[in-house]
Amino acid sequence: MDKRKIILDCDPGHDDAIAILLCGAAKNIDLLALTVVSGNQTLEKTARNALNVSRFLGIHCPIASGAKNPLVRSRLNCGEIHGESGLDGFEFPEYELDYDKRSAALLIRDVALQNEKITIVTTGPMTNLATALLKYPEIKSHIDEIVLMGGSTSGGNLTPYAEFNILADPDAADICFKAGLRMKMVGLNVTRKALVLPSVMEQMSKVDTSAAKLFIALMKFFNKTQNEVFGLPAGPLHDPLTIASMMDESIVTFKPMDVRIALEEGEHYGETVCTPSSDSKIQVAVDVDLKAYWSLIEKALSSFR
Ligand code: BDR
Ligand code: CA
Repeated sequence: MDKRKIILDCDPGHDDAIAILLCGAAKNIDLLALTVVSGNQTLEKTARNALNVSRFLGIHCPIASGAKNPLVRSRLNCGEIHGESGLDGFEFPEYELDYDKRSAALLIRDVALQNEKITIVTTGPMTNLATALLKYPEIKSHIDEIVLMGGSTSGGNLTPYAEFNILADPDAADICFKAGLRMKMVGLNVTRKALVLPSVMEQMSKVDTSAAKLFIALMKFFNKTQNEVFGLPAGPLHDPLTIASMMDESIVTFKPMDVRIALEEGEHYGETVCTPSSDSKIQVAVDVDLKAYWSLIEKALSSFR
């Protein structure tokens, strides 16, 4: 089978951790690098979390730290959802912090140029990818597709209009969306349907692997804070839906749309303004097959020993 080569740029983050887990389980995905950005917590914490999760699961690829701050706006973190560490709820063993010495943008460049076709998945603010596109435009012809968790066709989470990953660096998102590359946007309008309800917790708790224990511990914490902060009945499993959509293309339904990032100051700042357009290179998620998503997650948890 021809595996899809990907770089995952993330800000773990509870749901980012499960996206990393899916990369490790996917038979049709070759994870070539993890790059990390400030987002759910400060960069130092998100980088440590990315390393902890991948070492715990036995996933070995270079991990590089990237942007500490957004391109233009001031920094936005999300400790009220992801806790003090950015990944509260699970204690990892102490691993050596053997990060790749390169910056995230440079690692993206090097990996892209070494491969004819690469998919870049972002599950945090898009600062690292925007930086790589600005500094190393030669990578563009090597990028097959950008797949992101971010934005929404209908309402935000941090403001009535804006979703966190886009609001945390709208200028970076604007650069990525204007790059003229093929994109898939998996936004809140779909990910908020994927709630880790008690029935899902029960399904996953039947799996007896260390990966399943990690999932349950992280989701317990995430469910609690999502309820306290947003009043949701459970936490939405946003980020892994990007990877799931590549593992099984029937899970997420996409429609072509033009997407504009609202950069003007005011209540719409950070909104992804989506307009259906049959010839757009941007595909926007409009629906999810939840039964298939949970079954894919269950299989992934079982695949670790
Ligand atoms: C996004 O924001 C973060 O808190 C999550 O990890 C996800 O990437 C959802 O808005
Ligand atoms: Ca994230």
